[in-house]
Amino acid sequence: MNPLPRVAVLISGEGSNLQALIDASRAGTLGASLACVVSNRAAARGLERARAAGIPAEHVGSAKGEARELYDARLATVLAPYALDFIVLAGFMRIFGAEFVAAWAGRILNIHPSLLPAHPGLETHRRVLDAGDPWHGATVHFVTADLDAGPAAIQYRLRVRPGDTTETLARRVHVGEHIILPRAVNWLATGRLRLLASSVMLDGQPLTRPVLIDEEGSLT
Ligand code: GRF
Repeated sequence: MNPLPRVAVLISGEGSNLQALIDASRAGTLGASLACVVSNRAAARGLERARAAGIPAEHVGSAKGEARELYDARLATVLAPYALDFIVLAGFMRIFGAEFVAAWAGRILNIHPSLLPAHPGLETHRRVLDAGDPWHGATVHFVTADLDAGPAAIQYRLRVRPGDTTETLARRVHVGEHIILPRAVNWLATGRLRLLASSVMLDGQPLTRPVLIDEEGSLT
């Protein structure tokens, strides 16, 4: 049997999405080997989760005022020995320069807490409430040079309820993220999902829109 593709998970904080990947890996449903976890924050709880799971955990902090490209180059140096096939951004709160993104084109996924293209960037739960959006959710997409704008593979969608707060939305979105991220990583690692020019291909067919999973459970 071929060895599983090797994946690095990049985080900045809690690492609950990382945990979902670890759990899928343990359950034998990830289709990938978690080769290392890197955080730009030393205090990220996700680093402890990685160590507890026996995954090499690295801190690559950014120096004050450091150019994006210099950080990317230091990160690339740390990642190189792990002989990676893919990178997964799971709450990694940094933006890459164009060179790093180009070097990993079609091989980096990001999870973002909104139904992209709605609400790229930060504070998505607050912005959904302020806009009175009826729907919210999360998206897994390929990373391109444009922030949160790469082609999307899968989304989790939930209906905003009266009385929802940023906290309740964050909780509900996280539940969905923990479903769609391991699934997207499995698809990528098993060759079912790939980026062809700017088209997302799933099982050899171009996706006209991301696969959609509703909170209620239906797959469309
Ligand atoms: C997630 O909501 C992710 O979409 C966002 O940051 C959060 C990370 O959560 N980019 P966690 O660290 O995986 O718990």
